[in-house]
Amino acid sequence: MQIDIVTIFPEMFDGALSAGVIPIALKKKIVKVNLHNLRDFTHDKHKQVDDAPYGGGPGMVMKPEPFFEAVPAVAGCSLNELKKFCRVILFTPQGEALKQKKILEFSKEKRLILLCPRYEGIDERIREHLITDEVSIGDFVVSGGEFPAMVFMDSVIRLLPGVLGSEASLDEESFSNGLLEYPQYTRPNNFMGLRVPEILLSGNHAEIARWRRQKSLERTAKRRPDLLEKIVSTKEEKKLLNKTEKESS
Ligand SMILES: C[S@@+](CC[C@H](N)C(=O)[O-])C[C@H]1O[C@@H](n2cnc3c(N)ncnc32)[C@H](O)[C@@H]1O
Repeated sequence: MQIDIVTIFPEMFDGALSAGVIPIALKKKIVKVNLHNLRDFTHDKHKQVDDAPYGGGPGMVMKPEPFFEAVPAVAGCSLNELKKFCRVILFTPQGEALKQKKILEFSKEKRLILLCPRYEGIDERIREHLITDEVSIGDFVVSGGEFPAMVFMDSVIRLLPGVLGSEASLDEESFSNGLLEYPQYTRPNNFMGLRVPEILLSGNHAEIARWRRQKSLERTAKRRPDLLEKIVSTKEEKKLLNKTEKESS
């Protein structure tokens, strides 16, 4: 996969690209990440990327010209062909809220171009003619697209085959199977009198799997009942959930 990031603050990505999971993927050549400074696609003395909004109002708006020049240049194709070869993603609080299912979809792509606006946002013509996807990281506002792009990039890259040591863990973690993950424990078994649930020490894999499923259901029912409605389908799961509800009432 190749990810190209267009930003006025490429240096913000230094940390994300140098620690954690992303540098492992870079080293293994599973992903290539290129940073592009939007100001390199301006032609005036001040490398200006923003201007006052038409109609007045507070703040500045990002100008169309640098984006219209940067995106085809980065993609290596004409504006008309752009959408055939890559997904061009705009980070905006007005976009589709990110979900694991969508991240999985993006992880199957060969080329992603991430646009990171600043100020009050972008000229609407960029949205209308350059973008394939508008992505939000939640119902709150940060001051630029760089942090959302890092969140997005990390969540996509960790799904690429060969990046994580234990890919089986991806199937069990929160949201992958539609539920929140079960509680986890590690050594010591007895920590200041606090003991690990007996079942996890039993070696009975079928019972452990059942316990985990029940805890997953229980946790999801308490914290995210909205998720549960879509998931609980089998008789066995309904039984587990009823048991959970009785136990917690
Ligand atoms: C200060 S915000 C602008 C918000 C814009 N005026 C609005 O009301 O929609 C600057 C930039 O940060 C990014 N941003 C802020 N919050 C975001 C979120 N929740 N998800 C994705 N991007 C976000 C967007 O790229 C946005 O253009």
